[in-house]
Amino acid sequence: MPITWQDATRELHLHNGRLSLVLAVLENDWLGQLHVGAPLDPAASYRHLGPADFRGFSNRVDDPIGLAVPAPGSGDFRIPALVVEGPDGATVLDLVYEDHRIMAGKPALEGLPSTYVEAPSEATTVEIDLADRISGLRVTLSLTIFEDRPIITRSMRLTSTGDGRLVIRTAMSSSIDLPDGPWELLGFSGAWARERHPHRAPLQPGRRSLGSLRGATGHQQDPSLFLLRPGADEVHGEGFAFSLVYSGNFLAEAEVGPRGSTRARIGLHPDGFAWTLEPGATFTTPEAVIAWSDGGIGALSDALHGLYRERLARGTWRDRPRPVLLNSWEGVYFDFDHRRLLEMARATADLGIELFVLDDGWFGERDSDTSSLGDWVVDRRKLPDGLAPLAAEVEAMGMSFGLWIEPEMVSPRSRLFAEHPDWAIGVPGRPRTESRQQLVLDLSRPEVVDHLEAAVADVLGSASIRYVKWDMNRNITEPYGGSLSPERQGEFFHRHMLGAYELWRRLTTRFPEILFESCAGGGGRFDPGMLAYAPQAWTSDDTDAIERLTIQWGASHVYPLSSMGAHVSAVPNHQVGRVTPLGTRAAVAFFGVFGYELDPRTISDGERTEIRAQIAFYREHRDVFQRGRFLRLRSPLGRDDVAWMVVGPDRRTALVAHIRILARPVPPPDRLRLRGLDPDATYRVEPWPGLGGDAVRRGGDLLMAVGLGLEPEDPPTGAPRGDFSARIWVLTTD
Ligand code: DGJ
Repeated sequence: MPITWQDATRELHLHNGRLSLVLAVLENDWLGQLHVGAPLDPAASYRHLGPADFRGFSNRVDDPIGLAVPAPGSGDFRIPALVVEGPDGATVLDLVYEDHRIMAGKPALEGLPSTYVEAPSEATTVEIDLADRISGLRVTLSLTIFEDRPIITRSMRLTSTGDGRLVIRTAMSSSIDLPDGPWELLGFSGAWARERHPHRAPLQPGRRSLGSLRGATGHQQDPSLFLLRPGADEVHGEGFAFSLVYSGNFLAEAEVGPRGSTRARIGLHPDGFAWTLEPGATFTTPEAVIAWSDGGIGALSDALHGLYRERLARGTWRDRPRPVLLNSWEGVYFDFDHRRLLEMARATADLGIELFVLDDGWFGERDSDTSSLGDWVVDRRKLPDGLAPLAAEVEAMGMSFGLWIEPEMVSPRSRLFAEHPDWAIGVPGRPRTESRQQLVLDLSRPEVVDHLEAAVADVLGSASIRYVKWDMNRNITEPYGGSLSPERQGEFFHRHMLGAYELWRRLTTRFPEILFESCAGGGGRFDPGMLAYAPQAWTSDDTDAIERLTIQWGASHVYPLSSMGAHVSAVPNHQVGRVTPLGTRAAVAFFGVFGYELDPRTISDGERTEIRAQIAFYREHRDVFQRGRFLRLRSPLGRDDVAWMVVGPDRRTALVAHIRILARPVPPPDRLRLRGLDPDATYRVEPWPGLGGDAVRRGGDLLMAVGLGLEPEDPPTGAPRGDFSARIWVLTTD
C-alpha cells in the first residue's frame, strides 16, 4: 500500500519508491510535516525529524519544520497556507487531527479540473480531517500519490460545521517546508508574444512570489514554481516542481526563514480573495501537483509531461494524433469571404494539410476587432450561405474544418451588449476599461453561462466543425460580480473561473468529437487547468522561429509537446519582422502540435514543394513528436544555438534539432551530446533531407557520451550555415 499509517507513532507515509511524504500527528494533535522529497523506507519511523509539540514554537526557533496546514496561531510567522476568519473575527486556528481515510484511486474535485486515474490501482489517496473546534472549521486535506510517478497531488476541502459564518481569506492548495537550504527558484515569466521565458535565481531570506491578479493565469507568469539545488541541471541534482491546476488568479511563492528553511506554497491568490462559508457550506481549493526528483530538471519535466498528457488531458483527442492544420489568421486576418476562403482551402489541401481553421472574423459584422464579440451568428455579408456549406466544401477537399470563437467576451458594439449591458464585468457607476475594444462577460452569473452554452452549441451544431480554437483576449480590470452581494465580492474572481470551467465542461461534454485548442492572445491562459478541457493550447502569438525557441523551451518545462501549438508563418515575421528560412521555421514548429499560419495562395512553387515535404515528414514522425520523450539539450538563454530532441517510447526512433541563432566565424569544433537513447543500440543518423548531409551509423552510447558533430558548414556546398539555420536528424535503429 503506497500510503501507510503507523498507529504507534501516528505517522502517515506516502511512498512509491520515487518520492516520500511523511506526516505525523503531533502530541498536541496538530498535523506536522516531517519529510517531503527523497523516497524513504516505509517501514521506519521518522518521528525524530519533527518536534513533539508545536505549540509556542516561536519562542524556541523561528522556522521550525512545518505543519501540513500552517495557519495563524501556531507561532509560525511564515506565509500561511490557511487564513480563515471565525465568527468572532479572529483568524487564529487550532487545527487538530480528527480522522483519516486511505482509499484506492483519486476522487475528482467538484467543479474544478484535476488529474485523474483510469483504474483505482493507479493512485492512492488519503483524506485527513483536521478541525478547529472553536470556529467550527473542518479542513479535509486530500493527498494522492500516483503509482509510478514521482508525483503527489494536494488540495483542501473546507467545511463550516458550526453555527457561525466563516470567511476564508487564504486557502493555498499546497504548502511544504524544506528544512535545509539553499534552493534556487526557476520560474517562467514574460509578456504577450514572449511567454514563459525561464528565469532562475537563488532564493534569499524573505519572499519571492509569482502570480496573477488578472482573472487568468496570464502571459506574465506560469502557475508553476521549481525549487532546485544550486548546480542542478537538466540531468543532475535535486529539485521540486509545483504546478497548479487552475486558470485564474494564482500565487506561487517561496519564503526563506531566518534559519534558512524554505516554505513553498501555491494556490489561489489571497489578494482580494474572501470566501464566505455559511454553516454547512464547503469550499474546495484547486489541485496542486508536486513533483520531486534527484535526476535534474529534465526528470521533473518528464514527470509533469507524462501526468499532464495522460492523466490531466482527457477525452477523445487525448491520445489521437493531432491533425496538421492551417489557420487563416496571419494569412488573411479579417479580410475574407466565402470565395477567398475556398481558394485558400484549395491551396491548403494541395499541401497535404489535414485541418483548415477559420479564425476570427466570421460572425456579427466583425471586420476588425472593434465589434461583434457575443453575436455568434454568421456574418452573411462574408459567408452568405453560412458555415455548413463552407465546412462541407472543405471536407470534400479531404480536410476537416475548424473554427475560432471567443465565448467569454463581449464587444460594446454588439447586439449582446445592447441587450445585456449588465452581463459585462464592471462596477456600477464606475467607468469600465476597454482592452482590445472588448469587455469580459460575468461568468459568475449562471444565466450568462447558460446563454453562452446555448449560443456556442448552436454554432458548433450548425456545420461539420471538427476543431475549435477557443480564444480569450483580455483580462479583468474592474472585478465585480453583478449578482453577488457586496460582502461576497471577494468571491468574484474564483466564481467567474468556476463559471468558465462549467462552460468548458458543458461544451466539451456535448461535443466530445471536437478537438478543442485553448488560446488567450497566444499563451495568456496556457495552464494545467485549461489542459483538462483542451488537450492543446496556442503557445504564443509570436510565430517567429527564433522567438519561439525560448518560448517553447520555457513552456516545455511543464507542458508536453502534445499540448503546444506551433505554426510556421510567413516572413518577414508579423511580430518581429525577422526573415528566417522556411526549413528553420518548420524545424522549430515540428516540436509541438504542428501547423501553418499563412496564406497558401501567396507562396512560391518552391515553397509549396518544401512545405509538402515538411508535412509529409511531420506526419511520418508525428507520433514521436507528439508523444515521445522531450529532452532539452542546449538552452537558448545566453547562447548562439539551441538544441532539443524527442525520443520515441521504445527508443527506436529519435528526432534531434539544432538551431543556430547567430553564426560566428572560426567556431571551435562542436559536438552535440544526445540523451535518452538506448546505449546498446546502433542508430542510423540521417539528416532531414531538406537540411542537408549524409546518413551515418553511430552507437547510442557514442552519441550520448561523445556527441554528434556539428559542422559549421553545409556539407554539399561548403558554405557557412549562416544565421537562423537549422538541422534535424532522424535516428532510427534497425
Ligand atoms: C488572438 C489569438 O492568439 C490569435 O491567434 C488570433 O486568433 C486572434 N486572437 C484573433 O482575434
